[in-house]
Parts: sequence; C-alpha cells; structure tokens
Amino acid sequence: MSETADAGHPTGGVAEIDEPTRRDFLLWSTIAVGGVGTAIAVWPFIDQMNPAADTLALASTEVDLSQIEVGQSITVIWRGKPVFIRHRTEEEIKEAESVELSALPDPQADADRVEKPEWLVMVGVCTHLGCIPLGQKPGDSKGDFGGWFCPCHGSHYDTSGRIRKGPAPANLPVPAYEFTDDTNIRIG
Ligand code: FES
Repeated sequence: MSETADAGHPTGGVAEIDEPTRRDFLLWSTIAVGGVGTAIAVWPFIDQMNPAADTLALASTEVDLSQIEVGQSITVIWRGKPVFIRHRTEEEIKEAESVELSALPDPQADADRVEKPEWLVMVGVCTHLGCIPLGQKPGDSKGDFGGWFCPCHGSHYDTSGRIRKGPAPANLPVPAYEFTDDTNIRIG
C-alpha cells in the first residue's frame, strides 16, 4: 500500500523532496514498527517501508525534532494521515497568541493547542472536505493568516492551525502526543 500525500489532494501524487539547503522545509515520514515506530524515511521510500494498515491503526509514532530548525516544517504520517509539525518562529508564536478568541470561528487559545509554544503539531487534513492544505513547502501559499491554505474551497488557517476564513468549520486537529524528552515526541 502506498502512503502519499500532496497539497490539496489527500490521495494525490508523491510529494517532492526539496533541496536540502532550503531551510524552512523538510518532508519526512515516520514508519511504525510494532506498537511504536521510530524510523524516519523520506517519501520515495514509503512504498517499501510502509507497514500494514492494521499496524498503522494501532501504532504510535515517535518523531525526532532535533533537526528541524526554526521556521521549518515537516510532515509525518501517523495512522495513515499527514501530521504537520512546525518549528514556529517567534513572530508566528506572537501572532498566534495575540488573536482574540472572539475573532475565531472555532475559538481555541493557542496555548491549548501546543505543549511547547515553538512546536505546533496537528493533523494536516482540512476540516472542510479533507484536502491537505498548502503551507508546508517553500513557496506554498500560507493564506491570509500566514499559516496554511486549503485551495480546494479556500480555507485559511493561522499560525496555530486555526480556521480563520473559508468554509472549513473547525481548526486543524491536534493529535494526542507527548514529549518523551526535550527533542522527541510520541504521537498517539
Ligand atoms: S476541503 Fe479544504 S476548503 Fe474544502
């Protein structure tokens, strides 16, 4: 089974790997092994390394954040879904924290969406009809609020992944996860 994801299409083509010199984007995928997965692979290896769906359904996924620089985003696969992980900049954090909840269609404080302000972890599936929003790759549109943009029907998410404009009814969901140490998280 192939696990691929591309902007705007949950089952779209294989995402491209950007040049390693580009600093704000890394595209990784995790692979679950048994109950807890630790390995990280880039997209082209997913076909060979993808575990069975029943394994994925049960698995947690561990992600090493130590190589993700400020301003970089990666996408990992967890239970068959893309999970966006962004190492937010100070500006992004300030912007996310300064928004009045009354301005939000799905009011949620930024502090309630993160374990640590610099790390945003969320399922990268638009809450409208399930497209994968843009905003992970360099050059992607980040929408009117500097976060993510779903071009399918025009939903704009902010730097906390909260819906701000467009038909999506809810914020990008934050999966259950925890820091297992300073630079590693376990999702699921
Ligand atoms: S699926 Fe994202 S706006 Fe419709």
